[in-house]
Amino acid sequence: MTEPRSYRNFIDGEWVAAPGDPFENRNPADRSEVVGRFQSSEPDQVQAAVEAAARAYRTWRQVPAPKRAEYLFRMGETLARRKEEMARDMAREMGKPLREARGDVQEAIDVCYYIAGEGRRLAGWTTPSELPSKACFTTRQPIGVAALITPWNFPMAIPSWKMIPALLCGNTVVLKPASDAPLSATNLVQVAQAAGIPRGVVGLVTGGGATVGQALRDDPGVALVSFTGSSETGRDVATACAASFKRVALEMGGKNAMIVMDDARLDLAIDGAVWGAFATAGQRCTATSRLIVHRRVLEPFLKGFLERVAALKVGDPLDETNDMGPVINESQMEKILEFIRVGRDEGADLAAGGVRLTRNEHGRGWYVAPTVFTRVERGMRIAREEIFGPVVAVLAADSFDDAVALANDSVYGLSSSIYTQDVNRAFAAARDLETGITYVNSSTIGAETHLPFGGTKRTGNGHREGAAETALEIFTEWKTIYVDYSGRLQKAQIDNH
Ligand code: UN1
Repeated sequence: MTEPRSYRNFIDGEWVAAPGDPFENRNPADRSEVVGRFQSSEPDQVQAAVEAAARAYRTWRQVPAPKRAEYLFRMGETLARRKEEMARDMAREMGKPLREARGDVQEAIDVCYYIAGEGRRLAGWTTPSELPSKACFTTRQPIGVAALITPWNFPMAIPSWKMIPALLCGNTVVLKPASDAPLSATNLVQVAQAAGIPRGVVGLVTGGGATVGQALRDDPGVALVSFTGSSETGRDVATACAASFKRVALEMGGKNAMIVMDDARLDLAIDGAVWGAFATAGQRCTATSRLIVHRRVLEPFLKGFLERVAALKVGDPLDETNDMGPVINESQMEKILEFIRVGRDEGADLAAGGVRLTRNEHGRGWYVAPTVFTRVERGMRIAREEIFGPVVAVLAADSFDDAVALANDSVYGLSSSIYTQDVNRAFAAARDLETGITYVNSSTIGAETHLPFGGTKRTGNGHREGAAETALEIFTEWKTIYVDYSGRLQKAQIDNH
C-alpha cells in the first residue's frame, strides 16, 4: 500500500504546511483507507491567509470583471477535463456514489460557466435625476476578503457556489472546508491556481471548526462570512459577526417535506421519494425527510415505496451498481442510529431498515440501512428535527390543506415538493409552502445552479446563493454615483421645488 498523500494549505500563492501534525481524511466506506493527510492549522495560518487575501484584494478589485471572468471560465474547462478523477476523489473521501459525485463536480462546472458570463453583465442601473444635467447610476462593488466555510456533503459544489461568484465580483477569498472532505476543496483550489488566478486571491486553510473556522470568522481582515452547515453553528457565526458588523450569509438546516396528493401519479411520486430520501444517503440539506401522503393513497404508495426501498443496493460508492453509500463518519452514524431509537420509542412504526449494516464490505465502513418510519405524528422528534441520514418519516394527511399545514409545521424552510395532477393545487402549494424552493412533480432535491438556492425560517438569513444573480447580492455592495455636469451647485430636494 502506498503512503497516503499529504496536502497543504494554500496561502499567498504557495502550498505550505502548518507546524502541527496533519489530520487524516478517511474513506467512510472503508475506514482503513486514508484518502489523504491534511494540515491541522492554527490561527496563525488563518491570519497569514487573510493578510495575503487583503493584499491581493487591492489589485484584484481593479481587474475588469470580464477579465476576472476569464479565469473562472478556465476553471470550468479544467474541471470538465478532470471531472472523472475529481469525482473519484470525492466518492472516496465522503462516500456518495460516483454518479452523484460526478453531478457534484458538474455543479461546479456549471457555476464557473454561468458566472463567467456574468462578468460581462454585472449590471447596475441608471435612472434620471430630479435635477437637470445630472447623471445617476449604480454599480456593484466588491466587499473585501470573504471567509467561506463549507460542509462535506457537497464538497466541491458548495465551495464553488461561494468562491466563484465572490471572485467574479472582485472579492478575494479564504476557504475553510469541512475536515471530513477537504480533498475536493483542495482540488478546486488547485484548479484556481492552474487557471492563473493571481497569488493571494484564493486561500485555503484546513483544520477544525473550533480553531480555523472561528479564527477566520473573527479575523478583523474578513469583511464577509458565507457559511453552510448546521443552524446551531450558523447562529454562532451570526452572533459573533454581529459585533463587528460583518456581512453574514447562512445556509443551514432543513426538514424537507414531499406531499403526495390523492391524484398524484404514484409511480412518479415513488421514484421521487426514493431519490429524495436516499440520494447522498439522505445527507443533503434538501433531502426529503418527511413524506406527507394523502390518506386515500397511503396504502398503495407505501406498498410501492417499501418495495423500492428494499431493493436499494447499499455499498461501495465506487461500484456503479450501488444506489447508496455509507454515511460520513462514526459520530454522524451514531447520531442517526440514536434518532432511529428515538423514533421507535416515540411509537412510530419502523417499516424498513433501522439498523447499522455490518456484514462483509459494510463492516469496513459506516453504513446505515435505508430507513422508513410510518405512522409518524407531527409532534414526534423524527418529524421535526433534521436527521441528516437515510431516514424518512411518513405522515398521513386528510386533505390538501392538512398536507400543506403539516409541511409548514417546521422551524426550517429549505425545500418542499408536491405530487399532484391538479394545476390549481400545484400553484396553491407553490404559493403556500413556506420554503425557499418548491418542486412540483419532482423530488425535494435537484436544484440547478442558475436559480436562487436557500430557505426561510431557521434555514437561512435571507440570502439566496447558488450561482444565481442573487449570489451577486451576497458578494457585492451597491454604490450609487451622482455626476453633476451642470457646471453649478444644484441642491436635491431644494432646487426642484
Ligand atoms: C444540499 O442539499 O446540501 O439540489 C445542496 C440539490 C443539489 C444541491 C444540494 N443540487 O440537491
